[in-house]
Amino acid sequence: MLMRSFVRGSVCVYLLGVLAAGWLAEGVIPAPQRVSECVTDVVPRDVEGAYVLRLRRSGDGEPVWSVQARNEAGRFYAEQTRLQLLREYGDDLPEVLEVEDFPRLPWRGLHLDVSRHWFTVAEVKALMDRMAALKLNRLHLHLTDGPGWRMEVKAFPRLTSVGAWRQNVTVPEWDWRRMVVGRGDGVLYGGFFTQQDLRELVAYGRERHIVIVPEVDFPGHSYAAMLAYPELLAYEGFNFDKSCAVGGDALDIDNPKTLAFACAVFDEVLQVFPEGTPVHVGGDEVQVFSREKQRVWMQRLVDYLRSRGREVIAWDETAMNGVRGQTVMVWHADQLGSLERYEQPVILTPTSHCYFDFRQSESESEPLAMGRQVIRLRDVFDFEVPAFDHVVGLQGNLWTEYIRGFDHLLYMAFPRAAALAERAWGSPRRPFEVFVADLQVHPQFVAEPFTREQQRRVAESDRTLQPEEMEVYVRRQREAQRCAE
Ligand code: ACM
Repeated sequence: MLMRSFVRGSVCVYLLGVLAAGWLAEGVIPAPQRVSECVTDVVPRDVEGAYVLRLRRSGDGEPVWSVQARNEAGRFYAEQTRLQLLREYGDDLPEVLEVEDFPRLPWRGLHLDVSRHWFTVAEVKALMDRMAALKLNRLHLHLTDGPGWRMEVKAFPRLTSVGAWRQNVTVPEWDWRRMVVGRGDGVLYGGFFTQQDLRELVAYGRERHIVIVPEVDFPGHSYAAMLAYPELLAYEGFNFDKSCAVGGDALDIDNPKTLAFACAVFDEVLQVFPEGTPVHVGGDEVQVFSREKQRVWMQRLVDYLRSRGREVIAWDETAMNGVRGQTVMVWHADQLGSLERYEQPVILTPTSHCYFDFRQSESESEPLAMGRQVIRLRDVFDFEVPAFDHVVGLQGNLWTEYIRGFDHLLYMAFPRAAALAERAWGSPRRPFEVFVADLQVHPQFVAEPFTREQQRRVAESDRTLQPEEMEVYVRRQREAQRCAE
């Protein structure tokens, strides 16, 4: 791993130079807007999450910390900074210190695809713990895709009884043709979140100032749903054995029942994800319907959710097709040069810098990953967020075709997520080497190395709950809920 092989000594020499040049190495990630060894009467900016953290000394020299914040999030972020400072300085805290800090972007996100591979409630919570320490505040959960539907929907039980399971595959290579969804011999691969699980995650996130943003990807990437309800959702001519390549697995948007289905699914999503939570409607990679047809259908879905009081987010194809009223999640890197075309708010997650499912180096021991493109830590760190007022967010995406298992997930996410946090927070530019040195102090932001060999072993040995075991889990959860009520 880059961090571990970095020669600490050479970093220190470099650091001395930087300090001599006036840089205060405060050791916090993401770096605060201002740190000084004197205390002023500055007040927190009028920005959600802003704070001023001060360290003074009592009469007998004991450290006394104080916080001024705009809101609870600011107080929470001040505490994350304080914990990092304690780790950085140990027993050698300065006499006085003042940190003035505020985020530049309101959306600082990670995305997690739980469809291609499934992660447990405990694992999602563990991911949120790390996000919170980095002041990341949005977890975009990609709950549905072709290879598995992962949210319980009471009105459509086959989405999970059929669509959440597939033939277990014991090789790490991702090959859509091997993803036999809905059936399989012997051991199956799969699982889903009950609505109770999701409520628990929402509450866990709230305590850490993380909003979980659910995505139900419509109308494309819907093989699992089409398989569960072919009579309702599959278009004429759809071939379940052959039509699943990217772009072909779209719901039948010519059928009026399909929009009613999507709205009914979102009705349940809105019951689980509380008021004020944005919802993501997908909208990417559909090739079997014209752009105009997609525009009309998606506009109806967006309007429906807006009429229910929700902010709606969608992948950038929707805006390119002419849909309005949604926040645009830009993933096509070639869009970065023409963001001024968008009237809507924009969240950036370009394939060039933010696809954390891509490899981190050319090394042959790197786990197999999507494509051959490499996104290094430095690439993420060097990303320049374009200076448009309507850019409201930056997000790293963890697509999980090749990521099966939590250690692998952490390896792909960290430390790149730490670099993303700096850019999303709007930290002042600092030398990459200083950032790397800071990472050494905070090992929770750097995952253990994970190799291709480990990836192979996980694929061979991993076993998820089986459908019968999942049924028992769901029954127990319902009973516990009834007792609690
Ligand atoms: C995407 O990568 N299809 C959003």
